[in-house]
Amino acid sequence: MLPELESLSLAEAIFLAIGAHEERSDTTVSFDIGEIPAVVSHPMKVCAYRFVQEGLSNALRHAGGRGQKVEARMAGTDFIIRVSDKGDGITDTAEAWSRGLGLPGLRGRVEAIGGTFSLQSTTGEGTAITATFRRDQLQAVGASNGS
Ligand SMILES: Nc1ncnc2c1ncn2[C@@H]1O[C@H](COP(=O)(O)OP(=O)(O)OP(=O)(O)O)[C@@H](O)[C@H]1O
Ligand SMILES: [Mg+2]
Repeated sequence: MLPELESLSLAEAIFLAIGAHEERSDTTVSFDIGEIPAVVSHPMKVCAYRFVQEGLSNALRHAGGRGQKVEARMAGTDFIIRVSDKGDGITDTAEAWSRGLGLPGLRGRVEAIGGTFSLQSTTGEGTAITATFRRDQLQAVGASNGS
């Protein structure tokens, strides 16, 4: 349920996940967090936290932590969050979806609160996961998915 996110802004929740990853892995993460809404629903903060946590965990495990980066920004009325790396990429993304629980779990989590999820990967260049939400979905409590 991540009650520790309760009093945090959306950006603070994202920074908490980045800091935890850096500490756990003894690596550094670059970030570009733009002006994003501070007050959002708890499920949205949990989703953003888990997104960054799993995205960075994948970047570490499968890309050696190379070029780990977190971005969050508004694009028009969309909120976009992205975790990327500059690792070797995924040769067969369709097959990768069935290899673990992390990516399917994240996609389900994002879609449960009305967002869209995408995986981009180029062999030899790196991997990125992106979640996009409309601004009006950020405050909506929506389906309960607070785990
Ligand atoms: N950043 C990445 N760089 C390279 N390959 C990746 C990356 N992220 C995911 N993959 C590939 O996609 C597969 C599926 O990822 P997913 O997160 O679903 O599972 P996992 O990390 O293997 O295990 P877990 O269930 O613990 O998350 C991985 O096994 C890996 O082969
Ligand atoms: Mg994973």
